[in-house]
Amino acid sequence: MQNGCLKVVQLTDTHIFADSTRRIGGLNPRESFLATLEKASVAIRGCDFVLVTGDLAAEGEGLAYRWLVETLASFETPIYCLPGNHDIGTVMAPIVSASGWTYGGSHVIGGWNFVLLDSCVVDAEYGCLGEAELDRLATSLSRQPNLPTLICLHHHPVPMGSAWMDTMLLTDSANFWSVVKQNPQVSGVLWGHVHQNFDTFKHGVRLLASPSTCVQFAARSPSFALDPLGPGFRFLRLFADGHIDTEIKRVEP
Ligand SMILES: [Fe+2]
Repeated sequence: MQNGCLKVVQLTDTHIFADSTRRIGGLNPRESFLATLEKASVAIRGCDFVLVTGDLAAEGEGLAYRWLVETLASFETPIYCLPGNHDIGTVMAPIVSASGWTYGGSHVIGGWNFVLLDSCVVDAEYGCLGEAELDRLATSLSRQPNLPTLICLHHHPVPMGSAWMDTMLLTDSANFWSVVKQNPQVSGVLWGHVHQNFDTFKHGVRLLASPSTCVQFAARSPSFALDPLGPGFRFLRLFADGHIDTEIKRVEP
């Protein structure tokens, strides 16, 4: 922690295939990840930790996770991650954990509480936290009532205003919000999944979604549509009073 704030880099929705030649929307996810990483490398080396918020692999294959951990191995920055709907947690967790990444959990770092939630439902694109994850969230928040808190998950807990995308949101978001509303120390909620920049407030909580390191989805589109914007990442500065300062940085399309 330097200059009174925590610095965090979020990388999300890398969608790496085991087959290095496969593409999504004309883009090779490995190439776009490497381009994003080049853009992010100074930020990653200077930050307190990296957050990877799901859909690391496109099809949950072990080779994809191995490629990711090997590609990020030259950075000494700690990495925290959680799964997305394209991941297979039972494949992902042992591979990333063996490489020193932290998978899920709640973590007090630099005067902030970070709660990493698993919102995945087997064989579904939508998300659901379920009782166990909601209980874990409530317990973590009750244990740290005085620490500013960032909740991280893969799925969007509010509609994005995009009909096709909103078929894949967090189905138990009402239960999620009833826990969050009882805990004014929650400063922000951060997710992936939607492959676009999103920055708003709800109940005084900062809501943030971020570009993928791969293809981008067009904001507020009623049906599936790609956005020609380049891949990117989010940089966050988290202050002791709960304030969040953040920006998106992108690679040229
Ligand atoms: Fe996703």
